[in-house]
Amino acid sequence: MSSTEQRLQDLRNRKARSEAGGGQARVDAQHNRGKMTARERMEMLLDEGSFQEIDALVEHRCRDFNMDNNIIPGDGVVTGHGTINGREVFAFAQDFTVYGGSLGEMHGLKICKVLDMALKTGRPVIGMNDSGGARIQEGVASLGSYAEIFFRNVRASGVVPQISVIMGPCAGGAVYSPAITDFVIMVDQTAHMFITGPEVIKTVTNEVVSFEDLGGAMTHGSKSGVSHFTANDDEGAIMLARELTDLLPQNNLERPPDKKTSDPVDRLCDALDSIIPDVATKPYDVLDVIGEILDDGGFLEVQADWAQNIVVGFGHLGSHTVGVVANQPKVLAGCLDIDASDKAARFVRFCDAFNIPIITLEDVPGFLPGTNQEWGGIIRHGAKLLYAFAEATVPKLTVIMRKAYGGAYDVMSSKHIRGDYNVAWPTGELAVMGADGAVEIIHRRRIAHARNAEQERARLTEDFNEKFANPYKAAALGYLDDVIEPNETRRRLARALEMLLDKEELRPARKHGNIPL
Ligand code: HXC
Repeated sequence: MSSTEQRLQDLRNRKARSEAGGGQARVDAQHNRGKMTARERMEMLLDEGSFQEIDALVEHRCRDFNMDNNIIPGDGVVTGHGTINGREVFAFAQDFTVYGGSLGEMHGLKICKVLDMALKTGRPVIGMNDSGGARIQEGVASLGSYAEIFFRNVRASGVVPQISVIMGPCAGGAVYSPAITDFVIMVDQTAHMFITGPEVIKTVTNEVVSFEDLGGAMTHGSKSGVSHFTANDDEGAIMLARELTDLLPQNNLERPPDKKTSDPVDRLCDALDSIIPDVATKPYDVLDVIGEILDDGGFLEVQADWAQNIVVGFGHLGSHTVGVVANQPKVLAGCLDIDASDKAARFVRFCDAFNIPIITLEDVPGFLPGTNQEWGGIIRHGAKLLYAFAEATVPKLTVIMRKAYGGAYDVMSSKHIRGDYNVAWPTGELAVMGADGAVEIIHRRRIAHARNAEQERARLTEDFNEKFANPYKAAALGYLDDVIEPNETRRRLARALEMLLDKEELRPARKHGNIPL
C-alpha cells in the first residue's frame, strides 16, 4: 500500500469509528427502546443526501476516570447542516450510545459551533436531545460548555428560529437550552424533562412520582406548558420539526415563505353566519372558525393540550404564513387566565420576532375571577399579553366574533394598542362587562326600589343589551374599521393582509423593554 493509500485508509478508519458511535450492542439497545440513532434521526430530518457533517473527528480531552482509554471520535453528538425542502438549516443530534449522550466539554463546543454558524449565516437550528446530562467525568468543564450553549441560545433568540426535539432523557440544567428555544417537541413515553428526578424528589419532599408523570410528554404538553408538540414516535417528531421549519423564515430579516394554494381568497365562509349560537352563554368551537378562514382549512396548533381556553397556531391566508390567536369559548367560556396569557404572549412575541402577521379571533368575557388567579399573579401574567400585543409591529388583524368585555377588549389586539385592521361581526358585544353584571352595579338602587324587582331587572338588562351589546358604538368611534358579515371574514382578512404586508412601524430605540415576567 502506498503512503497515500495508507493515509486514505487511516481517514476512512477514523470516520468509520466515529460513525459506529458506542457500538452495535448499544445501537441495538437504542432500537429495542423504539428509538432511532442520532445518525438515523439526522438523515430523516434532512432532505435525502443533503446532510454534511462537521466535527466528526472531535475528541474529548478528559484524562480522569480512565477516559483517555475510551475515546470515541465525534464525542457523542452528530452535528452539521443540510436542507429541509431545499432550505438550508443547521442541526445536531445527541448520540445516546456514546457515554449516554452526556455532554462533555467538546460535545458542548460542537453544538456551540453549529449555533455560531447558524447565527452567522441566518439559518434555523434544530437540536435533537437524547442525553444523560452533564458528563460526570468531565465535571465543571461540562457545566462550562452547557453555559456556552445557553448563552448562544439567548443570543440567537429572535434572530434565527430554534427548535428542540426531545427524544430521550433531558435532565437537570440541560433542560434550559430547550426551554430557551422557540419550540419544544417531545416524543411520547421516551422523552423526559425535569430539573430533579424522581429519586431526588423522594428524598427531599417524600413525593413518589414516576419518570413519565414527572416529566413525560403528556405532563409537559398539558400541565406545565414546557412543550409545544407531542409526537407518538421519533419519526412523528422529526416530521413535525420539518413541517414547522417549512412555515418559518430562515431568520428575522426575512418574511416567511409563501405556500401556494388553490383555495380562492374570496371564498365565502357561509358556515360562519350561523356559528354563533342564539343563546349568549352557549359555546362553539373556535377551531371551526379558524378552519373556515385559513387556506384549505390547514392549521398547525401549538400547545393544543395546555391552556385550552386560548388557541394559538400557524396557517396560511392567501398563501402567506399567519399566526392565529383565538379565544376558545368551549373552555372556561374563553376567559383569559394565567396560563392562557403566558401561552398567547409567547406566541405573539415569536410571530413578531419572525415577521409573521397575527390574526386575532376574539370572544372573551374577561379575565378569570378567583383568588387562585389573583394570588397567582394574573395581573402580572395578563400584562404580558397586553405588552406582547402592544409591542408587536407585524400586521395585526382582529375579528371580534362575540364578547369583547372589559380589560380583555383592550388586551386582545384592540385598535388602541395598534391593531391595524379591526372588525367585528354583527354579533359583537363591546362593553365594560356583560349586561347582567352591569345592570346589577349601575341600577342596584333602582332595582331594589322597584315594585317588581325581577321585571325591572329584566327590562334594564334588555335595555342595556340593546344599547351596548353590539359593535356599533365602537364602529361609530372608529375603534372598529368595519362591521362585516361573518361569511366575508376570509375575503376581508385576506385583502387587509395583502394591504398590510409592507407595513413599517418603528418604536423608540432602547436596549430592551421590561416585559413583566
Ligand atoms: C456520563 C453517563 C451519564 C452522565 C449516563 N451515562 N449518564 N455518563 N455522564 N451524566 C452513561 C452510563 O454510564 C452508561 O454507560 C450509558 O451512559 C447509558 O446509561 P444507563 O444508565 O445504562 O442508561 P439508562 O438505564 O437508560 O438510564 C439513562 C439515564 C441514567 C436515566 C440518563 O443514565 C441517568 O440517570 N444518568 C445520570 C443522569 C444525571 O443525573 N445527569 C446529571 C444531571 S444534572 P455505559 O458505558 O454503561 O453504556 C445535569 C446538570 C446540567 O446534567 C447542568 C447544566 C447547567
